[in-house]
Amino acid sequence: STSGGVDRYEITQRVESAEILPGHRTPLWTYDGTFPGPTIEARRGRPVSITHRNELPVPTVVHLHGGRTAPDSDGYPTDLVLPEEWQEGHGAHGGGHKMSDPRAVVTRVTRRYTFPMDQRPTLLWYHDHRMDFTAPAIWQGLAGLHVVRDDAEDALGLPSGRRELPLMITDRAFADSGALVYPAIDRTLRTRPGVRGAYLGGVLGDVILVNGAPWPVHEVDAVRYRLRFLNASNSRHYDLEAIGPDGRRLDLVQVGSDQGLLAAPVTHRRLPIAPAERYDVVVDFADVPVGGMVRIANRLGSGRTGDVMAFRVARRAADGSRVPRVLSTDLPTWRRSEAVRTREFSFRAGRMHGDHGWLIGGLPFDPARSDVKVGLGDVEVWRLVADVHHPVHLHLVGFRVLSRSGRKPLPQDAGLKDTVSLRPGESAEIITRFDGYRGRYLFHCHNAEHEDMGMMANLEIT
Ligand code: C2O
Ligand code: CU
Ligand code: CU
Repeated sequence: STSGGVDRYEITQRVESAEILPGHRTPLWTYDGTFPGPTIEARRGRPVSITHRNELPVPTVVHLHGGRTAPDSDGYPTDLVLPEEWQEGHGAHGGGHKMSDPRAVVTRVTRRYTFPMDQRPTLLWYHDHRMDFTAPAIWQGLAGLHVVRDDAEDALGLPSGRRELPLMITDRAFADSGALVYPAIDRTLRTRPGVRGAYLGGVLGDVILVNGAPWPVHEVDAVRYRLRFLNASNSRHYDLEAIGPDGRRLDLVQVGSDQGLLAAPVTHRRLPIAPAERYDVVVDFADVPVGGMVRIANRLGSGRTGDVMAFRVARRAADGSRVPRVLSTDLPTWRRSEAVRTREFSFRAGRMHGDHGWLIGGLPFDPARSDVKVGLGDVEVWRLVADVHHPVHLHLVGFRVLSRSGRKPLPQDAGLKDTVSLRPGESAEIITRFDGYRGRYLFHCHNAEHEDMGMMANLEIT
């Protein structure tokens, strides 16, 4: 509903089962009964207020990924929405060993999150962010899309309506019954090709879902489509390509990144996408014969995980869309000379409580520790150094990638990012201005298992 210039929603988090694999019911943790959760459509500058009600058997936290949100609505990992049974004495349900954080704001069944939407239009997503339990909660279904639009973007003439498709890609593993199997805990599927249970590296599933459906085939007209890819997988990376019926690759014309439109389109033949990244891409099916199939393939997969989805060109049609040479003129132009500070953070495996963990600057996440204090409005350069693959995400701010291992950024680093995919052994420099709000935020690896195993730190804006 809409009142006083605010769009209001109510979302109930509850257990619901869905038919994901034909003929099977899959119990899920859902936002409002569906996976993905309901897509929120927002207009720039018009606040969205969402009341979440927790009817799940576990505490939850909602985070709007990529949102420019005040800290009390940003979903800090101990800022829990407790289910009814947890209101007093939560011992019965277990799994709450970090609940003793004195700063936890707790004891409520509903919580209202307010998102000002004072930001560039883009595809955001919301997902669970509970301390130590984010990965299994997202795996179980707690993720949804949130689109921000404005008049300037609408006026560009990019493909729209039926010809604009947000595509949330996730991998999952299923038991024969249809139930989801989280292979870090349930070992039954570990020998199945494509499944990885090792918690340390992150969990992989052998079934690729797009918007909750396995390897969908989508009918299209022989025209341009705007495909808004989000990799919402816990730890699987994809290297996407669009392969036509003759085996030739179609151009992936990138128009936007995590934080909205690029300055100008960038054409790719393939597009690596790390967990939490978004790529806004236009594909033109005009040269595909009617009846022809275009496969969205994943070069990093093999067998079934080498496929993501397909488009079947059903008919010729008129195309009134276009991809302008200039997409946006409002990208920040922060320069190194403006930076008041340069910091360096290592993202590496290490010991945590005597066990293997993932550390930032040698430390596992601790909600009670202050890690980084930044002055409101300061421009800083951060140098991020990785041992293995780590998609590094900052809350609140978008950033630009300045360099990779001393060289210029990759073509897909263009525009404004909120997640940068550090490749093994790589270092990357990013630059941003920490503006918007004062308060406590986070930065972390978005391999969800790495995040749960400590690869997260506090970012305080003062
Ligand atoms: Cu997708 Cu801390 O976020
Ligand atoms: Cu985020
Ligand atoms: Cu990582």
